[in-house]
Amino acid sequence: MSDAKQVKLKPGDTIGILGGGQLGRMLAMAAARLGLRCQIFSPDPDSPAFDVVLNATCAEYADVEALELFAGDVDVITYEFENVPSAAAMVLDARRPVLPNRKILETTQDRLAEKDFVTRLGIGTAAYADVTSVASLREAIVRIGLPAVLKTRRFGYDGKGQAIIREGDDIAKVWTSLATKSAILEAFVPFEREISVIAARSATGEVECFDVTENEHRDHILNISRAPAAIPEALAEEARSIAGKIANALDYVGVLAVEMFVLANGTGPKVLVNEIAPRVHNSGHWTLDGASVSQFEQHIRAIAGWPLGKPVRHGEIVTMTNLIGDEINDYEKWLSVPGATVHIYGKGAPRPGRKMGHVTEVRPPKGK
Ligand SMILES: Nc1ncnc2c1ncn2[C@@H]1O[C@H](COP(=O)(O)OP(=O)(O)O)[C@@H](O)[C@H]1O
Ligand SMILES: [Mg+2]
Repeated sequence: MSDAKQVKLKPGDTIGILGGGQLGRMLAMAAARLGLRCQIFSPDPDSPAFDVVLNATCAEYADVEALELFAGDVDVITYEFENVPSAAAMVLDARRPVLPNRKILETTQDRLAEKDFVTRLGIGTAAYADVTSVASLREAIVRIGLPAVLKTRRFGYDGKGQAIIREGDDIAKVWTSLATKSAILEAFVPFEREISVIAARSATGEVECFDVTENEHRDHILNISRAPAAIPEALAEEARSIAGKIANALDYVGVLAVEMFVLANGTGPKVLVNEIAPRVHNSGHWTLDGASVSQFEQHIRAIAGWPLGKPVRHGEIVTMTNLIGDEINDYEKWLSVPGATVHIYGKGAPRPGRKMGHVTEVRPPKGK
């Protein structure tokens, strides 16, 4: 069913979203502004996205009957997270178009498949190796060197399922700690900065990229994003063209994020791809208040079969600060910061590391 060219929604039509977190919530809010309805599918009864839609399905992704009923209620289906089980995607795809295309999930759910795909496109990544045992880990270390980063092939996020291996570490212990049989070892990249490109691609193949964003992590969780990244225009152009090449090669419809490392002053490639997220992304939240069209609206437009916006940034620099865990308790302080816009996701308890909200700040152009 996933022929994007068949999809042409009209105001009043309904988009089905798999996943009920803050990304699904912000997608539904963007859709509402365009006169489109959303129905959220999520197994978690406390899903923050349920609060902003009239119709929700609270069921497991393995519940075929619930999936079928959900598909029957909606005109097109999308997702806010890449770990949609492939069986669920297949059930849905037999009934309604699923965008982005479900084959994209297979590539992006697996770090090894993703790196192989990027490499085949002639785009640089950190040196990497498939690791399935402590013996293959030792071989990979000989080839790649240390320090290196060992990552589970699947289900990693916010630095979970990763370990840095340094000279002198107990390799067997690191391997056991990851508790997996399928991992990837990556050379540690001594990056100067981390950037991401949020790109939208329409069903007719147009690509629109937002300004390249610079990202700072704290405890492996995104802390601050800034747009535009403080990099030369030629490098920004290279980063955008990499994202466009990936989107075209995947025949992608919707918004995707490509995380990249910028190397300091090496002689090789200046930009390496770290990972691809087949969805809207935390590093694109600045676009909600900092651009004429947000990443959420671009995604909705793309999967609706509508023309993409040509995003124009508001202000000289736009900053996005995540409110993680207890930081959400500062929301009143943020409410009175000049130029700040506060977003609270409506989640329950502020556990450590949990993304509870974010703030965007637009710095007006000089002289204003
Ligand atoms: N090969 C690497 N070299 C240096 N730093 C890395 C490497 N891989 C990951 N990191 C750091 O860890 C962060 C999280 O890793 P990433 O692969 O993006 O996983 P996820 O975002 O899914 O947790 C990156 O943003 C980066 O800061
Ligand atoms: Mg990442």
